[in-house]
Amino acid sequence: MAQVFVFDAYGTLFDVAAAARVAADEPGRAALKAVWPQLAEDWRQKQLQYTWLRTITGAYIPFWDVTKDGLDWAMEKAQLDDPELRERLLALYWELPAYRDVPMMLARLKAAGKTCAILSNGSTDMLDGAVDSAGIADFLDAVLSVEEVGLFKPAAAVYDMVGARFGCAKDDVLFVSSNGWDAAGATGYGFETVWVNRARAPVDRLSHTPKHILPDLSTIPEIA
Ligand code: LAC
Repeated sequence: MAQVFVFDAYGTLFDVAAAARVAADEPGRAALKAVWPQLAEDWRQKQLQYTWLRTITGAYIPFWDVTKDGLDWAMEKAQLDDPELRERLLALYWELPAYRDVPMMLARLKAAGKTCAILSNGSTDMLDGAVDSAGIADFLDAVLSVEEVGLFKPAAAVYDMVGARFGCAKDDVLFVSSNGWDAAGATGYGFETVWVNRARAPVDRLSHTPKHILPDLSTIPEIA
């Protein structure tokens, strides 16, 4: 039975599409309103691709810089040449809302005496901003950033940070991610895993398959 519950941050606890969605609703954003879902998708996909490529090629830079590079690519593709909009989208990324099911799920885990942590590609300052604006700091025993190891997921050195921080065995850990490739990587590493498949996507064709697949976070405490 897992004692340590470890969560991916972006897309799992925090709604990454919210930055583009919120900006598109602001006055004077007609150009963004027409394209924001595709922009959000391109931004996210490029951000992730750059993490993998930079890890493979030994060219790590902080996730905040990768996030800016992904946005610049996505804005150019969408033909949005608007420095003020760029700044606004980046500012919104620092205060992404948590998904609605997050606070109750964390509160139930803490009430059951579990250890809860974030393990994320995010830079420490970005993660602190999102944790504060989502109001979930009190539920978290640690916010672990890959910054410490200078590699992005799914490198094993990232998942090693959990055992190093809590002194726990791999099979004491339930790792939760909405990113199929992250849940697969953590399964191969040796954690018990949950893939939160909010988008009802097909299972990733990788060498490992997550142990649990759930539509949202609400039933995570029942695995405990
Ligand atoms: C993270 C990315 C993968 O938070 O969503 O690590």
